[in-house]
Amino acid sequence: MSESGDIEEMVERLRAGEVRALARAVSLVEDGSLVGMELVKACRQYAGDALRIGVTGPPGAGKSTLVDQMAKWLRQEGQTVGVVAVDPSSPYTGGALLGDRIRMQDLSGDAGVYVRSMASRGAKGGLAAAVEDVCVVMAAAGRQVILIETMGVGQDEVEVAGLADVTVLVLVPGMGDEVQSLKAGVMEVADVFVVNKSDREGAERVEAEILAMQGLAADEKERVAPVVRTVATSGAGVSELMAAVRGCAAERRGRKRWRKTSVDGLRLDHLGVAVRNIDAARSFYEALGIRVDHEETVEHEKVRTAMLPVGESRIELLEATEEDSVIGRFLAKRGEGLHHVAIRVDGVDAMFERLRSQGVRLASDEVRAGAGGHRYFFVHPSSTGGVLVEIVGDAAGWATGEGE
Ligand code: CO
Repeated sequence: MSESGDIEEMVERLRAGEVRALARAVSLVEDGSLVGMELVKACRQYAGDALRIGVTGPPGAGKSTLVDQMAKWLRQEGQTVGVVAVDPSSPYTGGALLGDRIRMQDLSGDAGVYVRSMASRGAKGGLAAAVEDVCVVMAAAGRQVILIETMGVGQDEVEVAGLADVTVLVLVPGMGDEVQSLKAGVMEVADVFVVNKSDREGAERVEAEILAMQGLAADEKERVAPVVRTVATSGAGVSELMAAVRGCAAERRGRKRWRKTSVDGLRLDHLGVAVRNIDAARSFYEALGIRVDHEETVEHEKVRTAMLPVGESRIELLEATEEDSVIGRFLAKRGEGLHHVAIRVDGVDAMFERLRSQGVRLASDEVRAGAGGHRYFFVHPSSTGGVLVEIVGDAAGWATGEGE
């Protein structure tokens, strides 16, 4: 079998959730081999909505125990979890060093948690790039949340933390003035502060130091990172921590993000093409080398869809399942052709309100859920220069859930 055939097969097995395929894929990626690079490339289109949570802090802060508790909490919520434990100070790779350490005893045997250690000081293109690649593979394998745990607070760790959607900085009592002596870059990377081992003497002091430092920086930061107390060994405070993380993730992906920089997250998501018959129409695209990666019938729209990925975007073929439907009427009136242009935004609900308040004529009276669980609404062609525009946001997942 050819190498590309191997990669296709591996991606299929990954997406089917095979843990052994995931382990093999991560090894290939970590090696920095050509096959590994091809694999990451193939995985990228399936790596969409995984939430990455970085957990960093000085040695001895109890990060591993906390990460175990977070994984356990997520499993109870029904989420699948990937853990990347990163130790830049270690010269060893391949997970042998930390992967075998005694952790996650409650979770061993649970295929919903996959733990991988990385100790790749010599990684080509830098550690952060290697970790990012591993995250892509885990996300493509269907891991909904990826916990990235780093062992220390050096420059490598700050870079790795920067990969995460939400970064948790773990501190402990007994650090004294060390909170202040932590490198500025480390404090700034935190979206959520944790005072772990908070049953110990000095917890108030650590918290006070964090708050004092935040007070100094308050003018520059539009958002003050919450401080949560935990006792990782007992699991105390973990629910509060996850609520803070969830809130931060929702905020990131939600309305505040576009308020800050209104074009953030905007991109062409897909072109919707109305066709009489998907099976007939797809052969041209397949001749181009584009493969259908998702097919779905959306009952309430009376439409069958096939997604054809093109780089970061997609072409969406739309076939009516009934003549009396949006696509059915479009075909009868206009024939086959471009039906709509879809633009992705962060915070679809906020964008709906924003456009409505600015007098844009909308063709939907609310934000709805469509193929793949993605939420969307339509803007009338009379407002857009003659083409129906679909505004599409994130899938209805936990990052866009309660926190908003
Ligand atoms: Co569409």
